[in-house]
Amino acid sequence: MTINLESLKGTYDRYPDKWETWKKLIETVEETAEEFGFRQIDPPSIERQELWTEKKEDSVTDEMYAFTDKGDNEITLIPEATPGRARLMQKRKDLKTPVKWYSTGKRWRYEDVTKGRDREFRQTDIDIFGIESVEADAEIIAAAASIFQKLGLDNRVEFKINDRKLLESILEAHGIEKTEEAMKVVDDKEKMTKEEFLEDLTDRGLTREDAEQVDQLTDISGPILENIEELRKKAPEEVQESVDRMESLGEALESYGVASMCRFDLSIVRGLAYYTGLVFEAFDSEGELRALFGGGRYDELVGTFGDREVPAVGFAFGYSPTIELLKKEDRYPLSEVETDVYVLSVSESVRDVALDYATTLREEGLSVETDLTGRSFGQQLGYADDMNAKRVLIIGERDLENDEVTMKHMDSGEEEALDKDEVVEHLEKEDFL
Ligand code: HAM
Repeated sequence: MTINLESLKGTYDRYPDKWETWKKLIETVEETAEEFGFRQIDPPSIERQELWTEKKEDSVTDEMYAFTDKGDNEITLIPEATPGRARLMQKRKDLKTPVKWYSTGKRWRYEDVTKGRDREFRQTDIDIFGIESVEADAEIIAAAASIFQKLGLDNRVEFKINDRKLLESILEAHGIEKTEEAMKVVDDKEKMTKEEFLEDLTDRGLTREDAEQVDQLTDISGPILENIEELRKKAPEEVQESVDRMESLGEALESYGVASMCRFDLSIVRGLAYYTGLVFEAFDSEGELRALFGGGRYDELVGTFGDREVPAVGFAFGYSPTIELLKKEDRYPLSEVETDVYVLSVSESVRDVALDYATTLREEGLSVETDLTGRSFGQQLGYADDMNAKRVLIIGERDLENDEVTMKHMDSGEEEALDKDEVVEHLEKEDFL
């Protein structure tokens, strides 16, 4: 039998050299979550389908890798993590809020595969449960901004922020009928020409006049605080509170020092049905890639799974689009796979000594490899080079007789003789440990 060695479409075989950049990126995101006091959880990657199908259906429901298992349970690989977290919150009624959670994991969606859009992909979800106020919204956005600041990409990225309630009520106040249909089209506005946008709206039953109005109304965009007055004028009385909230968010983002990365954009809707107010997405400033992350407020989702109502806000960082951005910015790879020290045994007789050195150096926290195959000096050196070893510690019988070992610096090729009992001290002095 011949086996097809290619991975399934939209899934990737990431070997160590490629995976290194992903690992570094995950570390940066998780480190940021920890800095903001989020705690890590480890939820399942398969869940009951009903977590997604019980609520209003959205784009994700159609894309699920859903099946019936051998126990006749209707389950799915998770297409996203938010309903799962809502389940965890509902289940543990003893948890005192605020609850701040993060976790990274794989998700699966049967999507049309394009650059930055895969069928198996990774997200880190960062959410705050139990806080209704705008401070939680600001903290979530500031945490996201902090990730891009660390990556030095903050001036290459734009966060687009909106409030669904505002959009809906502005459309309604201007007499637009079929607002729900209209909002679905608005969600894709960025990807369409003006004519396509108007056509899509009229195809869904809006009059041409209404379609033109939707186009005009959703054009409000720019720095948050500069748009408040216009919003106040366009928004009906009953959502002036949402305008005030947007203003407070703008002010809070100024205090966090991240306002310059953020723009208000009335055309951001987001495809997931559970968002109740704030929605936001990040794009590369040239607008070529799909969203780098997306999130928003979902104050009712936890409550749909039981009798405990818990407001929530959060986002999921999507890795594939950010990797594409790093490539575009010539920042890829972010780091290379390396081994700190390769311990080379010149002959079989010094193997035990070499293993002792390897153990000692590992205890010092270094990544260390030794010869496993009894290869020649040259072959071992070649292997150490292939593995990107920074140092090679050469153990030879004759050197040992003189109480010495040799340290080779792989970048310069320089070699130095060291007292055999002072290897660790030497590396310490060099700040290598
Ligand atoms: P989402 O917008 O569906 O939101 O996904 C968030 C991010 O995950 C996207 O912006 C994108 O970077 C990445 N992503 C989504 N689908 C794919 C794909 N097929 N291939 C590669 N990357 C992808 C959610 O998933 C919400 N659960 C986020 C959330 C968390 N809202 C509140 N808390």
